[in-house]
Amino acid sequence: MKVDPFEALDLLPQPLVIVTAGEPDKPGARGGMTAAWVSRVSWDPPMLVVAMTPARYTLQLIKEKGCFAVNVVGKSLEKEAYGVFGSVSGREVDKFEKSGVKVVKAECITAPVLAEAVVALECRLEKLVEAGDHVLVVGRVVCAQKLKDEKPLVFLQFRSAELK
Ligand SMILES: Cc1cc2nc3c(=O)[nH]c(=O)nc-3n(C[C@H](O)[C@H](O)[C@H](O)COP(=O)(O)O)c2cc1C
Repeated sequence: MKVDPFEALDLLPQPLVIVTAGEPDKPGARGGMTAAWVSRVSWDPPMLVVAMTPARYTLQLIKEKGCFAVNVVGKSLEKEAYGVFGSVSGREVDKFEKSGVKVVKAECITAPVLAEAVVALECRLEKLVEAGDHVLVVGRVVCAQKLKDEKPLVFLQFRSAELK
């Protein structure tokens, strides 16, 4: 059965993460956003990609600092991922203060790491690649912290009633 590509792509399972960037201790100079368009892209060196809409405040911080953290989210951060981190712009509000989500410092880069993440992948920005209406943020994973013993959440975007 032939289906619409947009509807078919919504059946692609994706991870649920919160990408963070900026100064961990400075409200106004830090941010974070929920992302589902995330994937591993290289085994050695270990690299990943996040597809971001160009207007994201988090992308601005990543460009300024040259690094970011990918915080894999479990049940404990689900509400925050779908709520403040996935809907409000960091230009208007400090999402960490608004949500009460605690941060710790990254080990190897400058970025907030979520204290309740399952794992935080600390990345140096390798390159930015334009792809359609998104920018691919390619990062090299230079450090990782395991923080919470929890199952990572998967994001499925079922939009089509017929495919449900
Ligand atoms: C479940 C979920 C997944 C999302 N995935 C992405 C994504 O992969 N790329 C993206 O640019 N925005 C994505 N968003 C939207 C951003 O998280 C949202 O616009 C956020 O408020 C941007 O914040 P910022 O402007 O402070 O960076 C997603 C939102 C949700 C709720």
